[in-house]
Amino acid sequence: MESKPSAADAIPTFTATLIIRRFDPEVDAEPRWQDFDVELRATDRILDALHKIKWEQDGSLTFRRSCAHGVCGSDAMRINGRNRLACKTLIKDLDISQPIYVEAIKGLPLEKDLIVDMEPFFDSFKAVNPFLMAGSAPKGGKERKQSPVERARFDDTTKCILCAACTSSCPVFWTDGQYFGPAAIVNAHRFIFDSRDEGAQVRLDILNDKEGVWRCRTTFNCTDACPRGIQVTQAIAEVKQAILRGKP
Ligand code: SF4
Ligand code: FES
Repeated sequence: MESKPSAADAIPTFTATLIIRRFDPEVDAEPRWQDFDVELRATDRILDALHKIKWEQDGSLTFRRSCAHGVCGSDAMRINGRNRLACKTLIKDLDISQPIYVEAIKGLPLEKDLIVDMEPFFDSFKAVNPFLMAGSAPKGGKERKQSPVERARFDDTTKCILCAACTSSCPVFWTDGQYFGPAAIVNAHRFIFDSRDEGAQVRLDILNDKEGVWRCRTTFNCTDACPRGIQVTQAIAEVKQAILRGKP
């Protein structure tokens, strides 16, 4: 029995060229660029293109992905020189008359193809104590109450999905891998400005380090790169102000 045509079948297809920076540590001394022609639809995303290449042309192509919907943060990569999530980058938003360049994010050790070692990134994240620190008992009962205005103070920085697009777009991080980087500061901000938290000064002291917030040169690369639209540079500026003024 013939299968019914799906709605996707009605969308025209075309051939686009992806040029992907490949690296296999067991074979390659240096990364190399490889072209792939792939049949796509305007509604496809870069992640769909990578899947088609992996499933139909070269099963060795290696990349991370999980949710495919901009939630898990595992598929940040450089697409035409800009840090983006592959699952959130639509083909129709790219100029397919030109090849599409895809490579791993910069500043973290390259492991294979589009995969980098994320451990240094998560080490910086863990170093800022990214959890609620509250030693005293809640006032007047079991709950730590918070007003909508107090909650709004740090709402923006709760949206981080730890994709590393910001940190790996930062020129300071490229030249100094010891710098905490924007993502760690965003996640410190999320707790520093939480009215229920009692660990703000601990985090501010950590970020007042020579590899802390003062390394930021306000280039705004991080804000431009963030797929969640977080005002990363503003968050860093607010943490700098909190260090200068004392505990918020
Ligand atoms: S701040 Fe934005 S770009 Fe940076 S890790 Fe979080 S979600 Fe990704
Ligand atoms: S695969 Fe989860 S954010 Fe893209």
